Amino acid sequence: MAPRPERRPPGQVLPVFPWDTIAQARTRAAAHPDGLVDLTVGTPVDPVAPVIRDALAADSAFPGYPTTAGTPALRAAIVDSLARRYGVTGLTADAVLPAIGTKELIAALPTHLGLGQGHRVVIPEIAYPTYEVGALLAGCTVIRADSLTQLGPSTPHLLYLNSPSNPTGKVLGLEHLRKVVGWARDRGVIVAADECYLGLVWEGEAPSILDPRVSDGDHTGLLALHSLSKTSNLASYRAGFVAGDPALVAELLEVRKHSGLMMPLPVQSAMVAALTDDAHEADQRERYRARRDLLRPAVEAAGFRIDNSEAGLYLWATRDEPCRDTADWFAERGVLVAPGEFYGPRGSQHVRIALTATDATIDEAVRRLS
Ligand SMILES: Cc1ncc(COP(=O)(O)O)c(C=O)c1O
Repeated sequence: MAPRPERRPPGQVLPVFPWDTIAQARTRAAAHPDGLVDLTVGTPVDPVAPVIRDALAADSAFPGYPTTAGTPALRAAIVDSLARRYGVTGLTADAVLPAIGTKELIAALPTHLGLGQGHRVVIPEIAYPTYEVGALLAGCTVIRADSLTQLGPSTPHLLYLNSPSNPTGKVLGLEHLRKVVGWARDRGVIVAADECYLGLVWEGEAPSILDPRVSDGDHTGLLALHSLSKTSNLASYRAGFVAGDPALVAELLEVRKHSGLMMPLPVQSAMVAALTDDAHEADQRERYRARRDLLRPAVEAAGFRIDNSEAGLYLWATRDEPCRDTADWFAERGVLVAPGEFYGPRGSQHVRIALTATDATIDEAVRRLS
């Protein structure tokens, strides 16, 4: 009889959970006489807009199972909002699908696309950690690369883009995106563009991968991943979606239906309200802009250089020294920031400073840095 294969707990293939490694810096920062100013995690702090909460409440009595595909109203709201906010045309209702927050979508994406052992997934050199996690859980090989030339002749199966980037705030321009799309199309590579911060741009323009100036109206092989966590303060509701190639979206829908990955119906209704109302989004963007306008000069005046950061919810700061030393410098002032190495080896001389703090907290951070 063949030997029984050992069970391998999935955690064994995963990297160390990075946030556990800043316990010491957290203790030191928390010991500050005026308390901890936590600028690590990008979690929203401003209340959910009444228009969204009312929509959630209005459908909270609904007892039945929701559909995985989303209500027709939700799918229409996704299509319309992408056209209105980002100039994405040519999408139909079957080219979009809700997700219970974008993180679960990313963590499962390689698996749900049928990728596994022997398949290669490209992620940015400095990246949101879940791209790597999802690829490793599927058994794929992970390649960190920011340019196509770094890949040489090898053709991956899935390539992630993240513009605007978490953590660097870097935006990829039209030409860059066009080049990647053309290259991927020639080789049959799926491009998953994480566009969670597309609505939070401070300088210049951030195009979507589905923008007709990028895709020429052909979405084959393209998936745009969106989240309402940051733009509509809906991190607690878990509200995201994927849009793009209808054939790939149909594949994802099939697996997600079998897996029970249904967005709760009241959240679907809340999401319709959020996607339909642009005013609360604009208000939130201006809140973050004001916080950025205060914090950025304070960090620079304290002797740091801010790289990229033209969009998104973070300042990517450096003093050209190891990131843990920088994090310690902040911790001595009672301010906690995220070491850049959480996002890849290339981030080892930066820290990520979140703008997702209340006005009072940002004011306090500015005071302590000056
Ligand atoms: C780049 C990026 N992608 C995806 C996510 C996941 O967002 P959510 O799961 O809240 O929709 C985040 C959250 O911080 C992020 O920064």
